[in-house]
Amino acid sequence: MFPSDFAWGAATAAYQIEGGWQAGGKGPSIWDTFCHVKGRVFGDHNGDVGCNSYELWEKDLECIRQLGLTHYRLSLSWARLLPDGTTGHVNRKGVQYYNKVIDDLLACSVSPMVTLYHFDLPQALQDQGGWKSPKISAMFDSYAKFCFQTFGDRVKLWITINEPYVCAKLGHEDGIHAPGLKEPGMAAYLVGHNMLRAHAMAWHSYNSAYRAQQKGVVSLALNSDWFEPSRAGCREDVAAAERRLAFTLGWFAWPVFVTGDYPEIMRSAIDAQSKKLGYGGSSRLPSFSKDDPAILGTADFFALNYYTSRKVRPGGGAGQMSMKSDQDAEEVLDPSWPICGVSWLAVVPHGLRNLLKYIKNSFNNPAVYITENGFAQTGPLQIEDVQRSEFYKDAISQVAKAIEEDGVNVRGYFAWSLLDNFEWADGYSVRFGLFNVDFEDANRRRTIYQSGRDYAKIISKQKMKSIQT
Ligand code: GAL
Repeated sequence: MFPSDFAWGAATAAYQIEGGWQAGGKGPSIWDTFCHVKGRVFGDHNGDVGCNSYELWEKDLECIRQLGLTHYRLSLSWARLLPDGTTGHVNRKGVQYYNKVIDDLLACSVSPMVTLYHFDLPQALQDQGGWKSPKISAMFDSYAKFCFQTFGDRVKLWITINEPYVCAKLGHEDGIHAPGLKEPGMAAYLVGHNMLRAHAMAWHSYNSAYRAQQKGVVSLALNSDWFEPSRAGCREDVAAAERRLAFTLGWFAWPVFVTGDYPEIMRSAIDAQSKKLGYGGSSRLPSFSKDDPAILGTADFFALNYYTSRKVRPGGGAGQMSMKSDQDAEEVLDPSWPICGVSWLAVVPHGLRNLLKYIKNSFNNPAVYITENGFAQTGPLQIEDVQRSEFYKDAISQVAKAIEEDGVNVRGYFAWSLLDNFEWADGYSVRFGLFNVDFEDANRRRTIYQSGRDYAKIISKQKMKSIQT
């Protein structure tokens, strides 16, 4: 049974849907720059126009209403609000745009959940070192304060940073996301560190200057797959799965929810690996100092993005300076798990329940919002997307079990995504929407998928139930 105030939502992110990359005074972001270099993104696609939500927001609102969502998760484009990344120059048109979005949502009784940072750093800040620079945390904090000040009278659910793991690893280790850096085994840890500091500073700012009046809550959205041992009960595999979880979810959740510092497993593995490879510098995993904001306790709820699961055994990346090598954990796909849409998305609904249970037990039983969960479609367009519909039904029933049988305090579920959109390195070839968007059409026509209709039915049934009880 879902609580009566359960959040039924869908999520999007600015760069993936807005377009208007130069409209109304917006500054460029690292994703604008990244996509404009040939060969980076599938088919050289980019988010210049996207779903054109910058101009077609009202169409999005219709979609939101059609689904009957109680909540909508969107992200703000930092460079649309502050074109050079600093509060020295505020772009009024950007403020107006988000004011309208927020006001329209509230007028339709839909609560906004607002992410401050979803992968799109202002290019001007990248030019000063981006997330690798220690200066970035204070800059993020100023931006966050500006947003709390400007929108916090109406926004009560805040996410500071979306998926620091993905920004750090895909953007700075693998180079497949903006800013496209490939500095394995080094930059990702530094970026993660600065993101934790940035998040913590923003949380402290909210806590001391805005919370009393605005009465909202703040967290950061952490992605993790569920990892289980390749051979059940095999000690080495159990340990490898634990390491994999620690390096993904623990990297950020441990400092924020448990100790204020990185998981011991991570620290010792990185130190040992550095020694083995003859790395003589100071630890590749930075340490928090007295001058850093306290990291522990800087989340008012747990925000989880879950998509898939993996089996794990020791191995991988041997002899290299890389995160993979530090982890000594190799992923293996279980052949019984169907792969649907994109190659990385094995459909494993029980992984969500297991991860929720793990979060309850490892992170002090926090209130949890599932801030993303979804299923991709590729190839020929299927509006009657039965598989995605099943995916959502199964995922939601796992959430119900986590609540009822495992006692996990799940407060909300956000489907990724409201609309088909720009799926990062995969461009428009991968469709995650509950609504199809016709990217060939100048008006970017939105058409509901079968899965959208079915999600709407689930929501309305749950709303009815909560009225009756
Ligand atoms: C997440 C990301 C989203 C979306 C999704 C599907 O990592 O936050 O922006 O693209 O993955 O791949």
